[in-house]
Amino acid sequence: TAILRSAASNSTRLLRRSYASDSTPERKIAILGAAGGIGQPLSLLMKLNPLVSQLALYDIAGTPGVAADVSHINTRSQIAGYAGEDELGKALEGADVVIIPAGVPRKPGMTRDDLFKINAGIVKSLCTAIAKYCPHALVNMISNPVNSTVPIAAEVFKKAGTYDEKKLFGVTTLDVVRAKTFYAGKANVPVEVVNVPVVGGHAGITILPLFSQATPKSNNLSDEDIVALTKRTQDGGTEVVEAKAGKGSATLSMAYAGALFADACLKGLNGVPEVVECSYVQATITEVPFFASKVRLGKNGVEEVLGLGPLSDFEKEGLEKLIPELKASIEKGVNFANQS
Ligand code: NAI
Repeated sequence: TAILRSAASNSTRLLRRSYASDSTPERKIAILGAAGGIGQPLSLLMKLNPLVSQLALYDIAGTPGVAADVSHINTRSQIAGYAGEDELGKALEGADVVIIPAGVPRKPGMTRDDLFKINAGIVKSLCTAIAKYCPHALVNMISNPVNSTVPIAAEVFKKAGTYDEKKLFGVTTLDVVRAKTFYAGKANVPVEVVNVPVVGGHAGITILPLFSQATPKSNNLSDEDIVALTKRTQDGGTEVVEAKAGKGSATLSMAYAGALFADACLKGLNGVPEVVECSYVQATITEVPFFASKVRLGKNGVEEVLGLGPLSDFEKEGLEKLIPELKASIEKGVNFANQS
């Protein structure tokens, strides 16, 4: 009986231990561009996330200060700041999720594609390091133009032999956040319960909110309202760029959206069932190789890319129009990655 009792208590201990580690596994997040307009509030929000055990803040400069500041917050994760390329490897080693808000933002009058020249190179070099130091990490790409930077990342990973299409995500959560807010305002429903899928890509007309699938349903929205809501969602970024009048683009709402998406990735990795978010990923649901759609997240990243569902005639038209632009942005990214 003594042996049995000891076996029982051992197994209880084991159970308890495995329960504790199952509920809160160790997870390292690396943020690249952590000293920037998005990077700083995103670092703060990830420090508040109890699923994170280690937070690595990397930038070309300024991260020791951000890290020291955020590290005083009395939450679970350990913080370290890394500055300059020499420290990039250490920042990335062991990361489960890498979030990339590195690069220049828009100024009034600029499109996201105008950022290509500078940001494409930054993304390429950061992804080369990811392939080397944490090839199995989930990558959350925020740097614009997302429609092209995600294909660039894919090409870099393919060349390095580390590409796993389940682990590469363009962060389009801000489009969803905006669509929800604007819809709730217009339909006069509580914003906390609103759901709106946003598909396509992350620039201008490639952003296609599917208000026909929005919940809760609203009967008081006219066709004109839907057209206006669609346009406002597509131009949401520009609205902020103009209001900031040369001081950058969305940073606070983007940090919120980025934190939301990273949290969904962590939940998926930890085995939480039915985690679904829209994201720009490799997909076969249309003729273009990358497409934003609802994605079920799991232990390996993308578990399933969900289909578009039934579209209204207006949305079908929008889909047809966006495909050529998205295709061109993807090709631009692929060409850049392969020629330079
Ligand atoms: P920012 O200029 O305030 O910050 C960018 C940071 O990246 C800076 O701290 C800079 O030092 C850093 N950086 C530059 N080169 C780097 C490198 N090689 N390695 C590491 N860090 C590097 O810009 P902000 O406002 O934070 O925007 C960042 C990016 O996010 C932009 O490309 C912007 O267009 C994009 N963005 C994406 C959104 C989305 O919905 N996906 C929404 C809003 C912005």
